[in-house]
Amino acid sequence: MTRTTRHPILNEIKTRFSNRALTEKEVPQEAYEAMVEAASFAPSSFNEQPWRFYIARGERKEKLLQTLTPMNQEWAIRADALVLTVSKQTFTMNGKPNPWHLSDAGCATGFFMLEAERRGLTAHPMAGFDQKAAREAMGVHEEFALVHVMAVGYPGDFDKLSERNQARNHPAPRKPIEEIML
Ligand SMILES: Cc1cc2nc3c(=O)[nH]c(=O)nc-3n(C[C@H](O)[C@H](O)[C@H](O)COP(=O)(O)O)c2cc1C
Repeated sequence: MTRTTRHPILNEIKTRFSNRALTEKEVPQEAYEAMVEAASFAPSSFNEQPWRFYIARGERKEKLLQTLTPMNQEWAIRADALVLTVSKQTFTMNGKPNPWHLSDAGCATGFFMLEAERRGLTAHPMAGFDQKAAREAMGVHEEFALVHVMAVGYPGDFDKLSERNQARNHPAPRKPIEEIML
């Protein structure tokens, strides 16, 4: 299911896609530490590093799972972990709003996803969850904004997906570079 590109680019960018077919195999703790470390090397405004990652496994995963939309729960139930990314909304140095915190957190989650891909894992981001319920479930302080939840696990078990999820479980197409390169 690798994408074809017109130019030679980083392999993990080509192979990554938002896979819903996950298998219940356990992911080593070391892999989560490595993905978070990869994320930590993202650039950020004034090096604020506004991102934080809640790695919800076991009971915490069950709690976070309940906050996902039914459509997402359907496949994300087989994730080894649900990772809630949150982002600090103000600069630590002066307490002023940080207009770039979501951009920084987005870049960090991109790094997280690419390290996941390199390790043969899937990290699938979702906005389909109840923000208030997820905040309560994980005890997130109000100074942090919720970014998204990633379902992390080993790919597999395509057959366990519902028909509608099987049908859309493929790399999504992209706009041509002529349209986005101005
Ligand atoms: C912020 C964000 C929210 C998303 N929310 C969901 C979601 O709730 N459920 C889902 O199955 N995929 C979700 N996705 C995955 C996108 O649908 C997917 O990234 C997009 O269609 C491009 O496909 P690709 O990642 O396979 O290249 C989300 C992605 C992002 C970045």
